[in-house]
Amino acid sequence: MFDARVFSGVQPTGNLHLGNYLGAIKNWVGLQKDYETIYCIVDLHAITVPQDPESLKIATYEVAACLIASGIHVNNSILFNQSQVPQHAELAWLFNCVARLGWLNRMTQFKEKAGKNRENATVGLYAYPTLMAADILAYKATHVPVGDDQKQHLELTRDIATAFNSMFGESFFPLPKPIIQKTAARIMSLRDGKSKMSKSEESDFTRINLNDGDDLISQKIKKAKTDSEPLPDNIKALEERPEARNLVGIYAALTSQSEDKVLSEFSGGGFGKFKPLLAECLINEIAPIRNEMNKILNDKAELDRILLRGAVRASSIAKPILANCKKVIGFVQSVN
Ligand code: TYM
Repeated sequence: MFDARVFSGVQPTGNLHLGNYLGAIKNWVGLQKDYETIYCIVDLHAITVPQDPESLKIATYEVAACLIASGIHVNNSILFNQSQVPQHAELAWLFNCVARLGWLNRMTQFKEKAGKNRENATVGLYAYPTLMAADILAYKATHVPVGDDQKQHLELTRDIATAFNSMFGESFFPLPKPIIQKTAARIMSLRDGKSKMSKSEESDFTRINLNDGDDLISQKIKKAKTDSEPLPDNIKALEERPEARNLVGIYAALTSQSEDKVLSEFSGGGFGKFKPLLAECLINEIAPIRNEMNKILNDKAELDRILLRGAVRASSIAKPILANCKKVIGFVQSVN
């Protein structure tokens, strides 16, 4: 009963890395063919931890350029930064009055990000998932392409939608479904196969950034942690070798093959042969994106126009949905 609509978001905190690209962005690009797609640079989420104003601005332009360079078509997809569409923050407040403390207390991402010094975390970091629910439901989006780490937030979004529906109207909001890639759902750090590749990791050698030069990509892969065993002929045999498994997963995602297929090609061989081929695949994928991104970044005025146009289009969808939300809650909305 709801028209299919895709929404997803990415934070402008530093440059995009291979995890963002293989876990989410590549999927975003493919979905444009069959769906109405709305993609958001979530700057309101970024400020849940302190940001330097100038770096935030630069990162917002870089992420926008990177998304366009990766294949987001701004005439079809709606691309904008969150803070230019006030309906996100307003709906988030309404959801703060629907979500329960108990639900938010379960969020593992908050626990990880707040760390030991929880008393010092911002209220925004704690309430982050209600804003994420608002991002999605402000458009009544039905599908949300994300990496595996966002699954729990998506479940909370469904809980909020269900609670709102039972309070104010059976089918007010859809229950959005995550779309998670099979092979690249969670790309791991190049230095530790048990922790996720992430922008916040201190060492740059834990990740491949989409603006890394070719030599740097080769160096990072050369230095990536592995072991001295040869590669096996099936993925199950890599269960206890997370670093090896991660590299095979990256190769599989880049070449659109299953991990078992990749292993059938490389089994018996060591990383001396595998790593240079992996680096070559990465360079083939990333170099054109990096070059295009740098071109796009030369014209900030055009990027401003693109983001504003996206915000106007996004707002025209979110406005009536929010107005209806306020109506069913019982707010008086005077019309002039
Ligand atoms: P963010 O900015 O951390 O990441 C953007 C997207 O990249 C995926 N991702 C990964 N996928 C695989 N392996 C990794 N190592 C990896 N690291 C990141 C994320 O899963 C995500 O899909 N809360 C979100 C942003 C957000 C959002 C939304 C997403 C805000 N509102 C509404 C969807 C819908 C976040 O912090 O993503």
